[in-house]
Amino acid sequence: MERTFIAIKPDGVQRGLISEIIARFERKGFKLVAIKLVTPTKSFAQKHYHDLKERPFFDGLCDFLSSGPVLAMVWEGEGVIKYGRKLIGATDPQKSEPGTIRGDLAVVVGRNIIHGSDGPETAKDEINLWFKPEEVTSYTSNQEKWLYGEN
Ligand code: GTP
Ligand code: MG
Repeated sequence: MERTFIAIKPDGVQRGLISEIIARFERKGFKLVAIKLVTPTKSFAQKHYHDLKERPFFDGLCDFLSSGPVLAMVWEGEGVIKYGRKLIGATDPQKSEPGTIRGDLAVVVGRNIIHGSDGPETAKDEINLWFKPEEVTSYTSNQEKWLYGEN
């Protein structure tokens, strides 16, 4: 089953939005398979955002991501990479639709509270960067037959 890497950034953690954000993914029907609270080093943040290294905001972004605890998670479900990004909303909260996480809960692009992998390759790379294989669980939830049907 498809998996994606989702992280609540230091602003989301500090603002007490962990339960609100997890609830939105859970209620949709996605399954949490890995979770930990970590404060990344700046060089780890630079690895995570390596594809943005030429952007003018890169240094500030990496300082920010490493400024406090981040809630790192892996979520599983059919279409979770693309739909997870839909739940999150557009990068700039001024442009995110109401009803999305950033649309409802954030105001500016530099403090947009959550990260989600943008495709299958980055999902795989980011899960491997943030988690050891033994930290990612695999289990069947009782809900699955009701979420997906049996045939
Ligand atoms: P992530 O899920 O965090 O990767 O966001 P994204 O995929 O919606 O956007 P992108 O990967 O292009 O940018 C990564 C992060 O850099 C964003 O979430 C923002 O926090 C930050 N960022 C992007 N564009 C800008 C910008 O123009 N100014 C500032 N200050 N930050 C930006
Ligand atoms: Mg991105």
